[in-house]
Amino acid sequence: MNVYLDNAATTKLDPRILKAMMPYLSDKYGNASSIHSLGQQNNLVLERARGEIAGILGGEANGIIFTSGASEANNFIIRGLMRANRQKGKHLIVSAIEHPSVYQTAKLLVLEGYEIDFAPVTADGSVDLVALKRLLRSDTVLVSIMAVNNEIGSIQDLSVISKIVHKNGSYFHSDLVQAVPYLKINLQKIGIDLASLSAHKFYGPKGVGLAYVRSGIKIDPLISGGEQENGLRAGTYNLPGIIGLTEALRIAYAERASYLRQVKTLRGYFWQRLKTEIPGLKLNGSLKKRVENNLNVRFGRIEGEAVLMDLSMHGIQVSTGSACSAHNLKGSYVLSAIGLADYDLNSNIRFSLGRFNTKKEIDYTISVLKKTVARLRAFSPVK
Ligand SMILES: Cc1ncc(COP(=O)(O)O)c(C=O)c1O
Repeated sequence: MNVYLDNAATTKLDPRILKAMMPYLSDKYGNASSIHSLGQQNNLVLERARGEIAGILGGEANGIIFTSGASEANNFIIRGLMRANRQKGKHLIVSAIEHPSVYQTAKLLVLEGYEIDFAPVTADGSVDLVALKRLLRSDTVLVSIMAVNNEIGSIQDLSVISKIVHKNGSYFHSDLVQAVPYLKINLQKIGIDLASLSAHKFYGPKGVGLAYVRSGIKIDPLISGGEQENGLRAGTYNLPGIIGLTEALRIAYAERASYLRQVKTLRGYFWQRLKTEIPGLKLNGSLKKRVENNLNVRFGRIEGEAVLMDLSMHGIQVSTGSACSAHNLKGSYVLSAIGLADYDLNSNIRFSLGRFNTKKEIDYTISVLKKTVARLRAFSPVK
């Protein structure tokens, strides 16, 4: 049996979304910047898509800058904003559990003379608000805190954070990649100035996402050499991708209630069986403040990598953390930030459920996992 339980890394393209993209991969191939009718028709489609996305996210259409995904959007926002606002200050704060595309980009800015602080999180993966307030300075230009963590699925209270950040006169960026459709997003109501999204996390195509930059905020261009995206990101528009992103976002929120019910029920069943049938297994983070599709567990005494490989040989695909750490055997800094001891940092598996999973698949996973864990523990030198 094949079981895909790595939906936080990427999701399977929804056939309805592929269908919506197809005309723009074939007959409707005009460059949306061209002046002839094939181009201008596509320009209308492009701007309609921008408007539709802005409507769903409760933001301004002209604040949307289409990108190749969220790593690009995060790089663009962190660097572009800090560089364009040098006169405001040189200090930025990011949470200790940000995705590397925020975390590492912020760290690299130190080489340019910027100063960075990492906001700590509590054991349930929530940003420590008292510590955050203490870190804010008069020259803090930007605070970047993700809506939902990619490893442990912890949810932040964005409205509260946004108020704290704005009271200080700083800009608030949130990486929303793992939040669709788990959180209802209204950029203006929540008070998010800048945001990032990626279509392939919610059944859309890979290679397309967006950066959101509220009007009036100065930001340095990402790619020069063309007038696309208000001169901030040059390059021919990826219209098939943009249509895919729009359709994926529309379906995600149109079907949100039934989708959440489905993954929550399945996750509840999975968790119940995991905690009763695998001795010593523990949940990383809190069950309450996490998105409905995520379970990140630790086994103790055995390597997460070994569990992953064994499950994979049985057709079950999971992750030890983020996909981006697949080539990096260092322990997870996210799990370290929520307080796991060093000896526990390599004994974890992230299960992330999605629309196409079934109860039968969960039953199969439990039966394989029980044998895997028992066998690896029998070999383990740590008793
Ligand atoms: C929270 C978060 N931010 C950013 C990214 C990067 O997204 P992309 O694959 O579109 O570059 C990911 C992908 O794993 C993610 O989980």
